[in-house]
Amino acid sequence: MKVTPPVPVSVDKMSIDVSEIEGLLSPPPMNLPPWQDASFLLGDGRTMFIRSMTEQDVPMLLEFMKKVMEVNKDFYDIVGVRVYGEILAVVRKRLKDPFTLLGLIDGEFVGFANGRIMTKDRAVSLHTMAFSRRGKVGWAMYYAKTYYAMEIVKVKEWWSTFESYNGWRMAGLAMAQPTKPWPEYQHELGGAKIYYVTEDSWNDSLKEWLPNYIGNQMDFNPTDEIRKANEVMRMPEKLEL
Ligand SMILES: CC(C)(COP(=O)(O)OP(=O)(O)OC[C@H]1O[C@@H](n2cnc3c(N)ncnc32)[C@H](O)[C@@H]1OP(=O)(O)O)[C@@H](O)C(=O)NCCC(=O)NCCS
Repeated sequence: MKVTPPVPVSVDKMSIDVSEIEGLLSPPPMNLPPWQDASFLLGDGRTMFIRSMTEQDVPMLLEFMKKVMEVNKDFYDIVGVRVYGEILAVVRKRLKDPFTLLGLIDGEFVGFANGRIMTKDRAVSLHTMAFSRRGKVGWAMYYAKTYYAMEIVKVKEWWSTFESYNGWRMAGLAMAQPTKPWPEYQHELGGAKIYYVTEDSWNDSLKEWLPNYIGNQMDFNPTDEIRKANEVMRMPEKLEL
């Protein structure tokens, strides 16, 4: 909007350094603790290695997600397109304090889970995806990011919502998560209901949820053999969803 200045001015045009604009658009990140590599023995006997996403992973993940967003089954398309945006937002710095975990089996990318820290007391779950089905890959990935928020960052509340029936069954139903009053409270993913975990519900029962369902704990000391098998990540050759 242009308005005539109410006083004579020495210069009538100013140039702005875009790095100053960036300083306003992307606030300084919190100093988040790192995710420690873990492995998880799935119910079907396969071992999944869970590590943090790095910037080097981003180009191949984006290429892969382009294919996922074309799958109009079980809500893979809507979740895929949103996850594409969230991965890009990490490198474009348009997501506040994100954390992104990748699940690999023998080097193959099979699971994804992300979230972000909203305040020092509250974290928000964004998305979970399984690219190898029927192995409870999604369950392990959702548990891993909840563990990160509750146990490592130590937030007091974890807010999720569910865009698909399988997502709701995995963590809404199986974790028996209560909801906040709606529409007063809305999740940032489309304004849906907020399902939440508190420090108490986590410590009293949910911390043992995955081990109780699948029978195994996450192992934060993956063997050298597991690390080696997952040193180089590759995308699944075929999308068999
Ligand atoms: C939600 C999700 C992460 C759950 O993870 P998961 O339980 O490891 O995922 P799967 O899709 O392998 O299995 C979920 C259910 O789908 C059904 N299913 C999956 N593949 C199937 C197939 N080939 N035939 C029949 N049923 C199938 C089964 O009911 C299965 O449950 P079961 O393993 O207890 O039998 C995963 O389904 C997913 O990535 N969905 C798309 C993205 C999404 O919706 N994310 C969550 C957003 S809230």
